[in-house]
Amino acid sequence: MVKLTIDNKKIQAEEGSTILQAGRNNGIEIPTLCHHDELTASGSCRLCSVEIKKGERTRIVTSCIYQVEEGLAVNTDSERVIHVRGLVLQLLMARCPASEVIRELADKMGVKPQARFQPDEDKGKCVLCRQCVEVCEEVVGVSAIGFSYRGADKSVGTPFAEPSSVCIGCGACAYVCPTGHIEMEESESGDERIIWGKTFEMAACNECARYFAPQEQLEYISMKTGVPLDKLYTCVDCR
Ligand code: SF4
Ligand code: FES
Repeated sequence: MVKLTIDNKKIQAEEGSTILQAGRNNGIEIPTLCHHDELTASGSCRLCSVEIKKGERTRIVTSCIYQVEEGLAVNTDSERVIHVRGLVLQLLMARCPASEVIRELADKMGVKPQARFQPDEDKGKCVLCRQCVEVCEEVVGVSAIGFSYRGADKSVGTPFAEPSSVCIGCGACAYVCPTGHIEMEESESGDERIIWGKTFEMAACNECARYFAPQEQLEYISMKTGVPLDKLYTCVDCR
């Protein structure tokens, strides 16, 4: 175990855990946007910034990727931390003016948009955190989406913005997206789902008749697990 202090509170944390995990395990709240417990942290939004002190040196680090160290003194709400988080939110608001999630975070932290950061109306709500790409690649295992272009034009989507031949319509990307950028629509009856420009036929549960998963997703699960397809037509509620 590693001994450190967070906001002057003496705590012990498991070696290899992050400051964010150590804080949360001890009831210390640190704001996050791009962090997801089940995915590898990308450290891209910087909203979880905290100030650390080692010896006489202090510096700002990203708490969702920075690991705890023996004797570290962490401050989660110093003046410098509040300033950095405010700046991060102003930049995020300028990049994604349509994102309600970012606006709500800014409101909660009393941060106002700044005229010096010109709003960019074309970027949608994406903060380029990579969570959707990672869940698709590492958890689902299909790699239907990725990043195109570089710098200011960088964006997430399917190759050549065409409906993907490997996407199974599971919606995991929309589920983990912290800003609601990924749109997933379902028909009124629930028999169709549209995501990344591709329409999926939904399968109905054998027990309750509710449409519950794309047919392509069930075929993929059957292929991966060896469970016969006809054994998969039961929704979670009826299982
Ligand atoms: S679409 Fe959402 S999850 Fe994917 S990179 Fe953008 S903000 Fe992150
Ligand atoms: S939550 Fe840590 S960088 Fe986004």
